Amino acid sequence: MLQVDSITKRFGGVVANSEVSFTVEEGQIVGLIGPNGAGKSTMFNMISSVFPPTTGTITFQGTRIEKLPAYQVAPLGISRTFQNLQVFKNMTVIENVMVGQHMQTKTNLFGMASLLLGITRKERKVYDQAMSYLAFFGLQDIFDQKASSLSLGKLRLLEFARAFATEPKLLLLDEIAAGLNHKETQEMSALINKVRDTGVTVLVVEHDMDLVMSICDKLVVLDQGVKIAEGTPKEIQENEAVITAYLGADIDEEEVEEEAI
Ligand SMILES: Nc1ncnc2c1ncn2[C@@H]1O[C@H](COP(=O)(O)OP(=O)(O)OP(=O)(O)O)[C@@H](O)[C@H]1O
Ligand SMILES: [Mg+2]
Repeated sequence: MLQVDSITKRFGGVVANSEVSFTVEEGQIVGLIGPNGAGKSTMFNMISSVFPPTTGTITFQGTRIEKLPAYQVAPLGISRTFQNLQVFKNMTVIENVMVGQHMQTKTNLFGMASLLLGITRKERKVYDQAMSYLAFFGLQDIFDQKASSLSLGKLRLLEFARAFATEPKLLLLDEIAAGLNHKETQEMSALINKVRDTGVTVLVVEHDMDLVMSICDKLVVLDQGVKIAEGTPKEIQENEAVITAYLGADIDEEEVEEEAI
């Protein structure tokens, strides 16, 4: 489904990604892992066309996308969440999801406004669909709350729901579980699996090793911009280079969480 081929990204003197290649097969959950600054979010930014790579190619279902603007990539079926959450704080929970659907349904902004007043049948359908997305993520009871009033856990669910509401084929989740407690993280794991079971292919960036190891079919490991390993969770757990670069490193969980929040 996705083929990342020899991607290099330079920011001035910083090489954020260096000759990185990997593939994502349809229906898989693939994890992109590595220490802070390894280049994970940079890779997501290129797959979702926030910016182009310096060199290399990205192919999604046969279409070269590395030079396309984001507005042309999203309709191909790629959606994402952001590490630093991009929900609209002044909108309600359901309005945030409807913004996600907007990209899919092409309802215009006037339609969105009349939708809030409950005017046409088409818009009623969008509203009902939004409620079903909220139910999928367990957010239906708080559909009319302002996003600004939500806890971090609920905000992460809303960010996830908003991205899912675009009906992507490939969903990129950037640290969707950062800052969540153990129970919330387990719920997030179950949700990622549930999303995959609807037929969506998932690429996750995640620091929580338990989560990554339990849900991913394949892991790609970056360290200082370079891919150092690729394989099943079991292979990665036993990989010497990974143990040295990452798993063996004394990661301060609190520090990671604080940074992510
Ligand atoms: N827009 C940018 N401009 C300049 N430098 C950048 C930019 N984005 C990322 N970088 C640099 O690229 C490197 C990789 O950053 P990136 O955010 O991709 O890492 P990451 O693996 O997502 O880390 P984390 O786990 O902390 O989120 C870092 O040195 C970072 O400072
Ligand atoms: Mg990042």
